Amino acid sequence: MKVLITGAAGFIGSNLVHYVAKERPSWQITALDLLTYAGNLKNIADLVESGRVSFRKTDITDATAIDSLFEREKFDLVFHLAAESHVDRSIMSAREFVSTNVMGTQALLDASYKHKVGRFVHISTDEVYGSLGPTGAFVETTPLDPTSPYAASKAASDLMVLAFCKTHNFNASVTRCTNNYGFYHFPEKLIPLFITNAMEGKNLPLYGDGMNVRSWLFVTDHCDALLRVAEKGRAGEVYNIGGNSEAELTNKEVTRMILEILGKPADLVERVGDRPAHDRRYAVDTTKIKNELGWTPSTPFKEGLARTVAWYQENQEWWREIKSGAYLSYYEKNYASR
Ligand code: NAD
Ligand code: DAU
Repeated sequence: MKVLITGAAGFIGSNLVHYVAKERPSWQITALDLLTYAGNLKNIADLVESGRVSFRKTDITDATAIDSLFEREKFDLVFHLAAESHVDRSIMSAREFVSTNVMGTQALLDASYKHKVGRFVHISTDEVYGSLGPTGAFVETTPLDPTSPYAASKAASDLMVLAFCKTHNFNASVTRCTNNYGFYHFPEKLIPLFITNAMEGKNLPLYGDGMNVRSWLFVTDHCDALLRVAEKGRAGEVYNIGGNSEAELTNKEVTRMILEILGKPADLVERVGDRPAHDRRYAVDTTKIKNELGWTPSTPFKEGLARTVAWYQENQEWWREIKSGAYLSYYEKNYASR
């Protein structure tokens, strides 16, 4: 089995590379990534250096390069994760989100269809559904109502994938997952930002009233779901993936838990201006993936968070290097005006 994983040097992609390499030892894995600010080859360096995984630095929006890669490699399966993924950056500028998330997905679909890829898994997000009130959960048929440029670009790419299934009888599924957390998570997102800021004794910039709710999923549980969808999911179908109800928490609660694990004071929290169109609550109904593919999340949030904090304590070189680079100008731009 020849497998391509796009976005393989990012947070979820690199965890998926490790997961698939371990769970499917006979599979040949190609890891593709452009290595943007969010991609870090160190995340998969052990597997690339040992020869277990081949790495290709390629831009998914470069349709010619993608077409020749697919012609050469004859992939059986594609996991598509490459994307611009940060909501705050999409609010500053949407252009790259449309280019990578929409046009890049289309280039992969064209090449996959032309070169007869047997199965395609498109990794999307619960953010395409918009925002929930205090109760209820998104199901796979909930109408799409994205509120950020990031979510709109993901919704567009989902629709393109599903259109290929209908038009070309293409064998793809779309997954829509809630917020992931775990190892190799880029420190611009809430959990890794707050862990590392607290370790540095810096303020934790909590948006608005801190009462927005996210449903947290340990990244390895997400990888387990993705492998099941690849192997047993149905073509043309959408699968929601999400954390248990105990992992549905306000940002304030998550912040308190991080400070408690690290033994840091509550006065590190700094209330800052809210994100525009800040979605109040996300939660997904996972009945479909549970009934069809036997998937449920297995890592309790408290345990997963403690393991994540320990990872950031043990891998300070990894995140200190990131936080000292170009990251600084993004941080200044995003937080100075709040
Ligand atoms: P990430 O930002 O950590 O990683 C994205 C990767 O894509 C990076 O390595 C980057 O270099 C690469 N990339 C960006 N543009 C590219 C291009 N033009 N060509 C090739 N590679 C490119 O993101 P993540 O959090 O790992 O998310 C991965 C996928 O999962 C995304 O599609 C995202 O929408 C989806 N998702 C993420 C979450 C989450 O909580 N992080 C939840 C649900 C869905
Ligand atoms: O729901 C899935 C989505 O989860 C993915 O599709 C996205 O790629 C991923 O980035 C994530 O989006 P969020 O916007 O929910 O994640 P983020 O970590 O940016 O923010 C989580 C919550 O924390 C959100 O309510 C905003 C808040 N927040 C975030 C940051 C960065 C803060 O209060 N302060 C911050 O500094």
